[in-house]
Amino acid sequence: MVRILSVGLIVSAIALVAWGAITGYDNILQVGRMWQTPVIKPHENPIPVMAAGSVPYSGGEALYRIATDEEITPPFSLSDPSAVTAGKTTYQYYCIHCHGKYFDGYGTVGQSFAPPPGDLRSTRVQSMHPGLLFKEISYGIAGGRQPPLATTIEVDDRWNAIAFVKSLGVRN
Ligand code: HEC
Repeated sequence: MVRILSVGLIVSAIALVAWGAITGYDNILQVGRMWQTPVIKPHENPIPVMAAGSVPYSGGEALYRIATDEEITPPFSLSDPSAVTAGKTTYQYYCIHCHGKYFDGYGTVGQSFAPPPGDLRSTRVQSMHPGLLFKEISYGIAGGRQPPLATTIEVDDRWNAIAFVKSLGVRN
C-alpha cells in the first residue's frame, strides 16, 4: 500500500514539475501557442442555424440539383474559345485518368469501372443537353459510376470541361 502511494506521489510530482516547466516555458515564448492564435478562433464560433425548410433563392448547388436539364444553362457561351482552352486543362486534371487521352474511356483507371466510361465523342454524348451533362458531371449518374464532382470542381470549371468535350465533336 505504502509502495503504491509513494509511486503515485512520485508520478504526481513529476507531472507537476513537467506542467510547471511547460507553463513557464510558454510564458517566456515570443509567439503564441497554436490554440491561442486567431487562425483557429473563427472555427470556434458556432455556425448560425438556418430555419427549418430554408432554401436559397439564388445561386448555390441546391438549385442545380432540383432543376431540369433545360433549366440549367451555361453562364457563358460553350463555343467561347477561352472556355474550350480552360476546359482542356480541367479535363486533364479531373477526367483524363478515367475517360482517357483519346476520350474513348480508355484512361488509366477508366476500364476498371462497371459500367466503363463510354466514348465522349459518341453521337449520343455530343448531342446531350448541356444541362444534363452538367448534372451528370456534378452529381454522378444514378446507378452508374460517373463520380459526383460538384464538391471537387467549381461551377465555371465544370462548364469549361463541357465546352471542351462539346468542342471535340463526333468521332469520324
Ligand atoms: C473516376 C473515374 C471518372 C472520372 C474522374 C470522370 N468520369 Fe465521367 N464517367 C466515368 C464512368 C465509369 C462513366 C460511365 C458509367 C456510367 O454510366 O455511370 C462516366 C460517364 C460520363 C459521361 C456520360 C457518358 C455517357 O455515355 O452517357 C460523361 C459525359 C462524363 N462521364 C464526363 C466526365 C467529365 C467531363 C469528367 C471530368 C470533369 C469525368 N467524366 C470524370 C468515370 C469517370
